[in-house]
Amino acid sequence: SQYRIAVIVGSLRKDSFNKKLAHAVAKLAPPEFTFEQVEIGNLPLYNQDDDAQTSDVVLRFKEKIQAADGLLFVTPEYNRSIPGVLKNALDQGSRPYGKNVWAGKPGGVIGISIGAIGTALAQQHLRNVLVFLDVPTLAQPEIFLQAKEGFFEADGSIGAGSKDFVQNWVNRYADWVRKHKA
Ligand code: FNR
Repeated sequence: SQYRIAVIVGSLRKDSFNKKLAHAVAKLAPPEFTFEQVEIGNLPLYNQDDDAQTSDVVLRFKEKIQAADGLLFVTPEYNRSIPGVLKNALDQGSRPYGKNVWAGKPGGVIGISIGAIGTALAQQHLRNVLVFLDVPTLAQPEIFLQAKEGFFEADGSIGAGSKDFVQNWVNRYADWVRKHKA
């Protein structure tokens, strides 16, 4: 069986550590897994008035989530929470009422930060939202990463100090997705 993972990165920054992490994680996954980053920076700000006529860009976004077998959220922490751009994407995918595309998709939450708590509070806020959106999210192992010298190798892969730790997470996440498709 093949598994399609929709990757949602919470940073729009060109040189984002989280975008880099998303690519590195995809390379550690089993061969039957494919990862596609779903653009969220082009979504309009959610306005409930638009529920009557959902725009094409939002419909295309929702179709990509709908087609996925699993969700991977890779997000920085902004002011001890998730970036607004990520919350906006979550809100867009959840509406109109009854048309929540996130529901039932197995999820994983990871993140990297320059701060020492490694996105822990952002991840906790995100988990809170995902519970309400009916996303069964891998609980353990947790992964809190700090972007410091040597975390990434020059080729973008994860450095020796954290590679096994991240690989273990990826293996557990892959099992989680398989279990939900079975
Ligand atoms: C941050 N940063 C940050 N870091 C952290 O550990 N906890 C926090 O609450 C915040 N808050 C915060 C707010 C805003 C508005 C910005 C721009 C940044 C720093 C953050 O970890 C750093 O900028 C990362 O590089 C962001 O991730 P990307 O863009 O590299 O993926």
